[in-house]
Amino acid sequence: MAQQFKYTLPVAETQWKFPAAGEVAFTWDYDARSEDLLRLYAKGKQEQWDAEARIDWSLPVDPEDPMQMDDQVVPLFGTPIWHKLSGKQRTELRYHSQVFNLSQFLHGEQGALVCAARIVQDVPRIESKFYAATQVMDEARHVEAYRRLLSEKFRFAYPISRPLKTLLEQALGDPRWDFTYLGMQVLIEGLALVAFQRIRDYSKNTLCRQVNAYVMQDEARHVAFGRLALRDYYPELTDAERREREEFVIEGSYHLRDRFNSPEMWDRLGFDAKEVLQTLQNAEGQIRFRKRLFSRIVPTVRDIGLWSERVQKAYTELGGIQYASTNAQEMLDHDAKVAEEFDRKMREGFAVAPK
Ligand SMILES: [Fe+2]
Ligand SMILES: [Fe+2]
Repeated sequence: MAQQFKYTLPVAETQWKFPAAGEVAFTWDYDARSEDLLRLYAKGKQEQWDAEARIDWSLPVDPEDPMQMDDQVVPLFGTPIWHKLSGKQRTELRYHSQVFNLSQFLHGEQGALVCAARIVQDVPRIESKFYAATQVMDEARHVEAYRRLLSEKFRFAYPISRPLKTLLEQALGDPRWDFTYLGMQVLIEGLALVAFQRIRDYSKNTLCRQVNAYVMQDEARHVAFGRLALRDYYPELTDAERREREEFVIEGSYHLRDRFNSPEMWDRLGFDAKEVLQTLQNAEGQIRFRKRLFSRIVPTVRDIGLWSERVQKAYTELGGIQYASTNAQEMLDHDAKVAEEFDRKMREGFAVAPK
Protein backbone atom coordinates (compact mmCIF):
# COMPACT_ATOMS: atom_id res chain seq x y z
CA MET A 1 0.00 0.00 0.00
CA ALA A 2 2.14 2.83 -1.23
CA GLN A 3 0.14 6.00 -1.26
CA GLN A 4 0.61 9.52 -0.19
CA PHE A 5 -1.62 11.06 2.35
CA LYS A 6 -2.58 14.54 1.19
CA TYR A 7 -4.09 17.32 3.25
CA THR A 8 -6.20 20.01 1.65
CA LEU A 9 -5.13 22.56 4.27
CA PRO A 10 -1.64 23.04 5.65
CA VAL A 11 -1.07 20.89 8.72
CA ALA A 12 0.75 23.29 10.98
CA GLU A 13 2.57 20.58 12.87
CA THR A 14 3.58 17.23 11.52
CA GLN A 15 3.06 15.88 14.97
CA TRP A 16 1.15 16.82 18.07
CA LYS A 17 2.76 16.39 21.45
CA PHE A 18 1.65 17.48 24.88
CA PRO A 19 2.54 16.39 28.39
CA ALA A 20 0.39 13.53 29.68
CA ALA A 21 -0.51 13.34 33.32
CA GLY A 22 -1.39 10.23 35.22
CA GLU A 23 -0.31 7.34 37.36
CA VAL A 24 0.86 3.92 36.29
CA ALA A 25 -1.29 1.46 38.24
CA PHE A 26 -0.27 -2.14 38.92
CA THR A 27 -2.61 -4.45 40.77
CA TRP A 28 -1.73 -7.59 42.70
CA ASP A 29 -5.37 -8.47 43.00
CA TYR A 30 -5.84 -10.79 40.05
CA ASP A 31 -9.37 -11.72 41.10
CA ALA A 32 -11.82 -10.07 38.78
CA ARG A 33 -14.72 -8.29 40.49
CA SER A 34 -16.93 -7.70 37.49
CA GLU A 35 -18.34 -10.70 35.63
CA ASP A 36 -19.88 -8.28 33.13
CA LEU A 37 -16.46 -6.88 32.21
CA LEU A 38 -15.00 -10.37 31.89
CA ARG A 39 -17.82 -11.31 29.53
CA LEU A 40 -17.16 -8.19 27.48
CA TYR A 41 -13.45 -9.10 27.35
CA ALA A 42 -14.33 -12.59 26.08
CA LYS A 43 -16.49 -10.99 23.38
CA GLY A 44 -13.68 -8.56 22.50
CA LYS A 45 -11.31 -11.49 21.95
CA GLN A 46 -13.79 -13.53 19.94
CA GLU A 47 -14.83 -10.66 17.70
CA GLN A 48 -11.38 -9.63 16.47
CA TRP A 49 -11.26 -9.26 12.69
CA ASP A 50 -8.88 -8.36 9.91
CA ALA A 51 -9.68 -5.15 8.01
CA GLU A 52 -7.75 -6.42 5.03
CA ALA A 53 -9.76 -9.63 4.71
CA ARG A 54 -13.25 -8.77 5.98
CA ILE A 55 -13.73 -5.62 3.91
CA ASP A 56 -13.92 -5.88 0.14
CA TRP A 57 -11.54 -3.06 -0.80
CA SER A 58 -12.06 -3.70 -4.52
CA LEU A 59 -15.60 -2.29 -4.30
CA PRO A 60 -15.76 0.90 -6.40
CA VAL A 61 -16.84 4.39 -5.33
CA ASP A 62 -18.13 7.28 -7.44
CA PRO A 63 -15.08 9.60 -7.59
CA GLU A 64 -17.24 12.75 -7.22
CA ASP A 65 -19.60 11.39 -4.59
CA PRO A 66 -18.07 8.36 -2.84
CA MET A 67 -20.63 8.01 -0.04
CA GLN A 68 -23.73 8.67 -2.15
CA MET A 69 -25.87 10.03 0.63
CA ASP A 70 -29.11 11.89 0.16
CA ASP A 71 -28.52 15.65 -0.24
CA GLN A 72 -30.53 16.22 2.93
CA VAL A 73 -27.43 15.32 4.95
CA VAL A 74 -25.28 17.93 3.19
CA PRO A 75 -24.97 20.95 5.48
CA LEU A 76 -26.77 23.98 4.02
CA PHE A 77 -29.23 21.75 2.10
CA GLY A 78 -32.55 23.54 1.64
CA THR A 79 -31.25 26.91 2.88
CA PRO A 80 -31.21 30.12 0.78
CA ILE A 81 -27.42 29.69 0.35
CA TRP A 82 -27.95 26.17 -1.05
CA HIS A 83 -30.48 27.41 -3.60
CA LYS A 84 -27.94 29.90 -4.93
CA LEU A 85 -25.19 27.30 -5.46
CA SER A 86 -24.40 26.00 -8.93
CA GLY A 87 -24.33 22.26 -9.63
CA LYS A 88 -20.54 22.34 -9.53
CA GLN A 89 -20.48 24.11 -6.17
CA ARG A 90 -22.92 21.57 -4.72
CA THR A 91 -20.74 18.70 -5.94
CA GLU A 92 -17.73 20.32 -4.31
CA LEU A 93 -19.54 20.91 -1.01
CA ARG A 94 -20.89 17.33 -0.98
CA TYR A 95 -17.37 16.00 -1.51
CA HIS A 96 -15.66 18.22 1.03
CA SER A 97 -18.20 17.54 3.74
CA GLN A 98 -17.68 13.78 3.27
CA VAL A 99 -13.91 14.22 3.42
CA PHE A 100 -14.12 16.49 6.45
CA ASN A 101 -16.20 13.99 8.42
CA LEU A 102 -14.14 11.00 7.40
CA SER A 103 -10.93 12.84 8.33
CA GLN A 104 -12.32 13.53 11.81
CA PHE A 105 -13.22 9.83 12.11
CA LEU A 106 -9.64 8.94 11.26
CA HIS A 107 -8.07 11.40 13.73
CA GLY A 108 -10.62 10.44 16.39
CA GLU A 109 -9.66 6.78 15.91
CA GLN A 110 -6.03 7.62 16.48
CA GLY A 111 -7.14 9.44 19.63
CA ALA A 112 -9.04 6.31 20.69
CA LEU A 113 -5.95 4.18 20.09
CA VAL A 114 -3.90 6.41 22.38
CA CYS A 115 -6.68 6.61 25.01
CA ALA A 116 -7.15 2.82 25.10
CA ALA A 117 -3.40 2.31 25.57
CA ARG A 118 -3.43 4.89 28.34
CA ILE A 119 -6.30 3.08 30.09
CA VAL A 120 -4.34 -0.19 30.08
CA GLN A 121 -1.68 1.66 32.02
CA ASP A 122 -3.82 3.73 34.44
CA VAL A 123 -6.92 1.75 35.29
CA PRO A 124 -6.64 -0.03 38.64
CA ARG A 125 -8.66 -3.23 38.00
CA ILE A 126 -7.31 -6.26 36.18
CA GLU A 127 -10.47 -6.99 34.15
CA SER A 128 -10.47 -3.42 32.83
CA LYS A 129 -6.84 -3.77 31.77
CA PHE A 130 -7.81 -6.98 29.95
CA TYR A 131 -10.64 -5.34 28.09
CA ALA A 132 -8.72 -2.16 27.26
CA ALA A 133 -6.00 -4.32 25.68
CA THR A 134 -8.52 -5.69 23.17
CA GLN A 135 -9.67 -2.15 22.47
CA VAL A 136 -6.11 -1.08 21.62
CA MET A 137 -6.12 -3.64 18.80
CA ASP A 138 -9.64 -2.62 17.69
CA GLU A 139 -8.61 1.02 17.42
CA ALA A 140 -5.47 0.23 15.42
CA ARG A 141 -7.74 -1.62 12.99
CA HIS A 142 -10.08 1.38 12.78
CA VAL A 143 -7.19 3.73 12.00
CA GLU A 144 -6.11 1.24 9.36
CA ALA A 145 -9.59 1.05 7.78
CA TYR A 146 -10.34 4.79 7.69
CA ARG A 147 -6.81 5.62 6.54
CA ARG A 148 -7.23 3.21 3.68
CA LEU A 149 -10.70 4.41 2.76
CA LEU A 150 -9.54 8.04 2.74
CA SER A 151 -6.29 7.57 0.90
CA GLU A 152 -7.49 5.02 -1.68
CA LYS A 153 -10.98 6.29 -2.41
CA PHE A 154 -10.80 10.04 -1.72
CA ARG A 155 -8.44 12.68 -3.08
CA PHE A 156 -7.34 14.42 0.14
CA ALA A 157 -7.94 14.77 3.89
CA TYR A 158 -8.60 17.53 6.43
CA PRO A 159 -6.52 18.14 9.57
CA ILE A 160 -8.04 17.47 13.00
CA SER A 161 -10.74 19.97 14.00
CA ARG A 162 -10.20 22.26 16.96
CA PRO A 163 -13.07 20.96 19.16
CA LEU A 164 -11.94 17.34 18.76
CA LYS A 165 -8.37 18.33 19.54
CA THR A 166 -9.43 20.21 22.67
CA LEU A 167 -11.51 17.32 23.94
CA LEU A 168 -8.70 14.81 23.40
CA GLU A 169 -6.26 17.09 25.15
CA GLN A 170 -8.59 17.43 28.13
CA ALA A 171 -9.28 13.69 28.32
CA LEU A 172 -5.59 12.76 28.16
CA GLY A 173 -4.26 15.75 30.09
CA ASP A 174 -6.16 14.99 33.29
CA PRO A 175 -4.29 12.78 35.76
CA ARG A 176 -7.44 10.93 36.88
CA TRP A 177 -7.89 7.67 34.94
CA ASP A 178 -11.65 7.88 34.62
CA PHE A 179 -11.45 11.18 32.67
CA THR A 180 -9.94 9.28 29.75
CA TYR A 181 -13.03 7.05 29.78
CA LEU A 182 -15.38 10.01 30.03
CA GLY A 183 -13.73 11.80 27.12
CA MET A 184 -13.32 8.74 24.90
CA GLN A 185 -15.71 5.89 25.73
CA VAL A 186 -18.61 8.07 26.79
CA LEU A 187 -18.37 11.26 24.72
CA ILE A 188 -16.27 10.75 21.57
CA GLU A 189 -17.30 7.14 20.94
CA GLY A 190 -20.92 7.88 21.84
CA LEU A 191 -20.98 10.60 19.22
CA ALA A 192 -19.04 8.48 16.73
CA LEU A 193 -21.76 5.83 16.87
CA VAL A 194 -24.31 8.41 15.66
CA ALA A 195 -22.03 9.73 12.90
CA PHE A 196 -21.02 6.23 11.71
CA GLN A 197 -24.62 5.06 11.84
CA ARG A 198 -25.72 7.78 9.46
CA ILE A 199 -23.32 6.43 6.83
CA ARG A 200 -24.02 2.78 7.60
CA ASP A 201 -27.77 3.23 7.21
CA TYR A 202 -28.08 5.95 4.56
CA SER A 203 -25.09 5.69 2.21
CA LYS A 204 -25.80 3.96 -1.10
CA ASN A 205 -22.17 2.86 -1.50
CA THR A 206 -21.53 -0.65 -0.23
CA LEU A 207 -17.87 -0.11 0.70
CA CYS A 208 -18.61 2.98 2.82
CA ARG A 209 -21.50 1.20 4.50
CA GLN A 210 -19.45 -1.90 5.18
CA VAL A 211 -16.52 -0.07 6.80
CA ASN A 212 -18.86 1.78 9.15
CA ALA A 213 -20.95 -1.27 10.05
CA TYR A 214 -17.87 -3.23 11.12
CA VAL A 215 -16.28 -0.36 13.02
CA MET A 216 -19.61 0.19 14.81
CA GLN A 217 -19.68 -3.41 15.96
CA ASP A 218 -16.47 -2.71 17.90
CA GLU A 219 -17.52 0.77 19.04
CA ALA A 220 -20.67 -0.64 20.58
CA ARG A 221 -18.46 -2.77 22.85
CA HIS A 222 -16.26 0.22 23.68
CA VAL A 223 -19.21 2.32 24.80
CA ALA A 224 -20.41 -0.65 26.88
CA PHE A 225 -16.92 -0.85 28.42
CA GLY A 226 -17.09 2.77 29.57
CA ARG A 227 -20.53 2.20 31.01
CA LEU A 228 -19.57 -0.90 32.97
CA ALA A 229 -16.29 0.49 34.32
CA LEU A 230 -17.73 3.84 35.42
CA ARG A 231 -21.05 2.53 36.68
CA ASP A 232 -19.15 0.56 39.33
CA TYR A 233 -16.73 3.37 40.16
CA TYR A 234 -18.86 6.52 40.41
CA PRO A 235 -20.99 5.48 43.39
CA GLU A 236 -17.72 5.35 45.39
CA LEU A 237 -16.98 9.05 44.78
CA THR A 238 -17.96 12.02 46.92
CA ASP A 239 -20.55 14.50 45.68
CA ALA A 240 -17.81 17.04 44.99
CA GLU A 241 -15.83 14.53 42.92
CA ARG A 242 -18.92 13.58 40.94
CA ARG A 243 -19.63 17.25 40.28
CA GLU A 244 -16.20 17.62 38.64
CA ARG A 245 -17.05 14.73 36.31
CA GLU A 246 -20.38 16.33 35.47
CA GLU A 247 -18.68 19.59 34.59
CA PHE A 248 -16.34 17.71 32.28
CA VAL A 249 -19.23 15.93 30.55
CA ILE A 250 -21.16 19.17 30.06
CA GLU A 251 -18.19 21.07 28.66
CA GLY A 252 -17.20 18.11 26.46
CA SER A 253 -20.71 17.83 25.05
CA TYR A 254 -20.56 21.44 23.88
CA HIS A 255 -17.22 20.73 22.17
CA LEU A 256 -18.84 17.78 20.42
CA ARG A 257 -21.73 19.86 19.17
CA ASP A 258 -19.21 22.36 17.77
CA ARG A 259 -17.21 19.63 16.09
CA PHE A 260 -19.70 19.76 13.19
CA ASN A 261 -19.28 23.48 12.58
CA SER A 262 -16.11 22.99 10.51
CA PRO A 263 -15.25 26.70 9.94
CA GLU A 264 -12.00 25.64 8.26
CA MET A 265 -13.97 23.79 5.58
CA TRP A 266 -16.19 26.79 4.86
CA ASP A 267 -13.11 29.01 4.57
CA ARG A 268 -11.44 26.52 2.27
CA LEU A 269 -14.53 26.44 0.03
CA GLY A 270 -14.66 30.24 -0.16
CA PHE A 271 -17.79 30.75 1.95
CA ASP A 272 -18.23 33.34 4.67
CA ALA A 273 -17.92 30.94 7.62
CA LYS A 274 -19.78 33.26 9.99
CA GLU A 275 -22.75 33.60 7.67
CA VAL A 276 -22.83 29.85 7.02
CA LEU A 277 -22.76 28.97 10.72
CA GLN A 278 -25.60 31.37 11.35
CA THR A 279 -27.63 29.84 8.51
CA LEU A 280 -26.95 26.33 9.78
CA GLN A 281 -28.47 27.21 13.15
CA ASN A 282 -31.88 27.20 11.49
CA ALA A 283 -31.30 24.64 8.71
CA GLU A 284 -33.86 21.85 9.04
CA GLY A 285 -31.46 18.95 8.32
CA GLN A 286 -28.96 20.31 10.85
CA ILE A 287 -31.60 20.73 13.54
CA ARG A 288 -32.66 17.10 13.00
CA PHE A 289 -29.06 15.87 13.14
CA ARG A 290 -28.19 17.94 16.23
CA LYS A 291 -31.16 16.40 18.04
CA ARG A 292 -29.85 12.91 17.35
CA LEU A 293 -26.22 13.77 18.22
CA PHE A 294 -26.58 12.88 21.87
CA SER A 295 -28.81 9.83 21.45
CA ARG A 296 -25.98 7.45 22.39
CA ILE A 297 -24.37 9.67 25.02
CA VAL A 298 -27.35 10.63 27.17
CA PRO A 299 -28.38 7.04 28.14
CA THR A 300 -24.77 6.29 29.17
CA VAL A 301 -24.36 9.48 31.19
CA ARG A 302 -27.57 8.67 33.03
CA ASP A 303 -26.54 5.00 33.61
CA ILE A 304 -23.17 5.88 35.14
CA GLY A 305 -24.87 8.19 37.64
CA LEU A 306 -23.83 11.63 36.38
CA TRP A 307 -27.44 12.71 36.16
CA SER A 308 -27.77 15.82 38.30
CA GLU A 309 -30.14 18.63 37.51
CA ARG A 310 -27.26 20.58 35.96
CA VAL A 311 -26.48 17.79 33.52
CA GLN A 312 -30.14 17.37 32.61
CA LYS A 313 -30.43 21.09 32.01
CA ALA A 314 -27.41 21.02 29.67
CA TYR A 315 -28.88 18.18 27.60
CA THR A 316 -32.21 19.95 27.46
CA GLU A 317 -30.39 22.92 25.94
CA LEU A 318 -28.29 20.71 23.65
CA GLY A 319 -31.42 18.87 22.53
CA GLY A 320 -30.75 15.30 23.68
CA ILE A 321 -32.81 14.96 26.84
CA GLN A 322 -35.49 12.84 25.16
CA TYR A 323 -32.99 9.96 25.01
CA ALA A 324 -32.78 9.68 28.80
CA SER A 325 -35.15 6.72 28.81
CA THR A 326 -33.59 4.93 25.81
CA ASN A 327 -32.26 1.43 26.43
CA ALA A 328 -28.57 1.78 25.54
CA GLN A 329 -27.87 -1.95 25.56
CA GLU A 330 -30.61 -2.67 23.02
CA MET A 331 -29.08 -0.18 20.57
CA LEU A 332 -25.61 -1.69 21.05
CA ASP A 333 -26.97 -5.22 20.48
CA HIS A 334 -28.60 -4.02 17.28
CA ASP A 335 -25.24 -2.65 16.02
CA ALA A 336 -23.69 -6.09 16.44
CA LYS A 337 -26.55 -7.72 14.53
CA VAL A 338 -26.27 -5.28 11.60
CA ALA A 339 -22.55 -6.11 11.22
CA GLU A 340 -23.32 -9.84 11.21
CA GLU A 341 -25.95 -9.27 8.57
CA PHE A 342 -23.29 -7.58 6.41
CA ASP A 343 -21.07 -10.64 6.78
CA ARG A 344 -23.90 -12.89 5.67
CA LYS A 345 -24.74 -10.78 2.63
CA MET A 346 -21.11 -10.42 1.61
CA ARG A 347 -20.67 -14.20 1.87
CA GLU A 348 -23.66 -14.72 -0.32
CA GLY A 349 -21.96 -12.50 -2.85
CA PHE A 350 -24.46 -9.77 -3.56
CA ALA A 351 -24.20 -6.08 -2.91
CA VAL A 352 -25.86 -4.93 0.28
CA ALA A 353 -28.83 -2.71 -0.53
CA PRO A 354 -29.42 0.33 1.65
CA LYS A 355 -32.56 0.39 3.78
FE1 LIG B 1 -12.66 3.10 17.05
FE1 LIG C 1 -13.60 2.77 19.90
